[in-house]
Amino acid sequence: MKKFKIAIDANQDLLKFKNLGEERRKAIERGSTTHVNASSFTNNLVEMIHPKGIKVEVVQIIEETEDTKSFYLKPVKLESMPPFLPGQYVTLTVTINGKTYKRPYSISNFLKSLEMYRITVKKEKNGMVSTYLFNECEVGETFNLLGPFGHFTYQPLRDGKDVVFLAGGSGITPFMAFLQNQAFLEKIHSLTLLYGAKSEFDLIFKKEIDEICSKNKKIQVIYVLSEQKRSDYAYGFIDEEKILQIGFENKTFFVSGPLKMYFSLNEIFKKLDIPNKFIRHEIFREVPEDLVEQNFQLTIKMKDKTLTIPCNEKETLIQSMEKGRVKTLVHCTVGECGFCRSKLLAGTVKTEDSCVRASDKEAHYIHPCVSYPLSDVIIEIPL
Ligand code: FES
Repeated sequence: MKKFKIAIDANQDLLKFKNLGEERRKAIERGSTTHVNASSFTNNLVEMIHPKGIKVEVVQIIEETEDTKSFYLKPVKLESMPPFLPGQYVTLTVTINGKTYKRPYSISNFLKSLEMYRITVKKEKNGMVSTYLFNECEVGETFNLLGPFGHFTYQPLRDGKDVVFLAGGSGITPFMAFLQNQAFLEKIHSLTLLYGAKSEFDLIFKKEIDEICSKNKKIQVIYVLSEQKRSDYAYGFIDEEKILQIGFENKTFFVSGPLKMYFSLNEIFKKLDIPNKFIRHEIFREVPEDLVEQNFQLTIKMKDKTLTIPCNEKETLIQSMEKGRVKTLVHCTVGECGFCRSKLLAGTVKTEDSCVRASDKEAHYIHPCVSYPLSDVIIEIPL
């Protein structure tokens, strides 16, 4: 009897499948032909979750360390900030002396109410935007934000329940949103945070981290100081010995910090045979060390316009365009979204290969936001 029922069910499924095309055609014919109103519920919802841009006001500034400040950003028109996942970032648009710059910053808090985002900025040597934010930005100033963007997120179906966060310097910022997110903490079994900085005075959010840890037994934190020896802190760098101490079997690693740390940890992961599927990265991009101060010409072809501006080996093509007041098509600024995708018509660039699709590479497409000129360069921006 049971077999008979299974046979009937299977035949009905086949019949449904056979009629699928016809059913779909009828459903389409039944559908409305009038356009969805721009202010419909669905469109409003999409605009709330994925706004094209958000105007925000700086409502509070906190000096975290000697060279790091946090900025609390509240929406000017929206009731709340768009939802995001811990680990994601936003792109901040900053205008300095009439020139517009876009820079990515991790969201370093997680408020259930989404009332405001916090971004945390480290003052970089020669960093135009970070220096401006650090020295000149005041409460009340407004900016435009794009995003949230990014894939540096915890996915329960993909990632394990025993998690290790490896943070270097200001690489701690995305982890603060994880630590404040109850939903994430409930999903995991254990969390070990190894946080490296030069000295105890360079540890951003130490008080906040200690407070969170004291309330949640799942979290263990180890501070690692590279330029200060103290009995209550680990000394040196986040290295193989420290990873062996905390154990790595069946753990999922999240790495956030400078490029140097990323390379040295990659070597350790390889040596310990930790498969790539257990490693997530958030790299804080820096100018590659082998590049030198050298000036070239950048020619940009757009539709029927051609422009030539100066560029420098130590600046990405997008940075040169920002300086040259060329309107840029930029979202993430870290090579992820493909929004700035352009064709390299002549010249050579040093670029982040991993960001460009294989088919794009063959067709000589690059992402100018992560490409540095090594000669005079001509690019074409498809509009
Ligand atoms: S702006 Fe996203 S890839 Fe360049």
